[in-house]
Amino acid sequence: MGRPTVTPRPFLKWVGGKGQLLPDLLKAVEAAGAFGKYHEPFVGGGALFFELSRLGRMRGRKACLSDNNAGLIEAYKGVQENAEAIIALLHGHKEKHCEAYFYAMRAEVPSDAIARAARVIYLNKTCFNGLYRENSKGLFNTPFGRYKNPLICDEENLRAVAAALKDARIEQRPFETVIERAAKGDFVYFDPPYHPVSKTASFTSYDKGGFGEDQQRRLAEVFAELDRRGVKALLSNSKTPFIEELYRAFTLREVFATRAINSKADRRGAVSEVLVSNFM
Ligand SMILES: C[S@@+](CC[C@H](N)C(=O)[O-])C[C@H]1O[C@@H](n2cnc3c(N)ncnc32)[C@H](O)[C@@H]1O
Repeated sequence: MGRPTVTPRPFLKWVGGKGQLLPDLLKAVEAAGAFGKYHEPFVGGGALFFELSRLGRMRGRKACLSDNNAGLIEAYKGVQENAEAIIALLHGHKEKHCEAYFYAMRAEVPSDAIARAARVIYLNKTCFNGLYRENSKGLFNTPFGRYKNPLICDEENLRAVAAALKDARIEQRPFETVIERAAKGDFVYFDPPYHPVSKTASFTSYDKGGFGEDQQRRLAEVFAELDRRGVKALLSNSKTPFIEELYRAFTLREVFATRAINSKADRRGAVSEVLVSNFM
């Protein structure tokens, strides 16, 4: 598949990126009708937000984007506030890029926030599979990716991303706090770490915190609370009996996505997911 030429698009490749579900997600947003603010409390790569921006659906509308991953949020804020400085730093990384330089950058966390944001983008573009992984100390530890010609500095997209993020509220926050932000008539899209389809499919450890069944239950309570308050809520997750039970009071739609999260090739393929909503 060729690289899309339209901007803005996600500037970081993120585990659980929603590129494949976009047509279904867009249909759901259409079904929601008019809404106030847009909230994404597990923003990750932000596939849906950038697609809505590209389609002009975010014009005149405030977005609240959050995630509990500090490095990710710092990268968003860096591009929002200092895109040109980040572009310059990325050109510097590009000139020096090689395996030894990658490992030197991976080992060193700069004290300056803009340099940290550029470092996250550089490592994301050049690491194995673009997979963000942290060790027990919270340090990025994905190995070098052997790409022939990684697009380390996509200037055009970074500028389009900065424009899309211009008025957005971007915060490092746990998902529960969306309750303090979302008001009646707003729209919230939840894309949490997925409930594993089997005990061995433990691909849900996005960060050192993990996201277990207690967190999934807590999320379902937050979803129900938003529903009571008249907020339009949409959520994607894997189609498991546990998830279907948690959201049985709402509309569940089965959708299919091809994923390549498991390292064993035979486990790759179409995975059935659900979209849960309180407005369809
Ligand atoms: C499935 S990914 C989101 C993917 C995103 N929709 C995309 O298109 O790339 C889930 C995100 O949830 C974040 N996360 C995990 N636990 C969280 C929590 N308790 N509160 C907020 N965000 C959390 C992770 O850092 C990760 O970015």
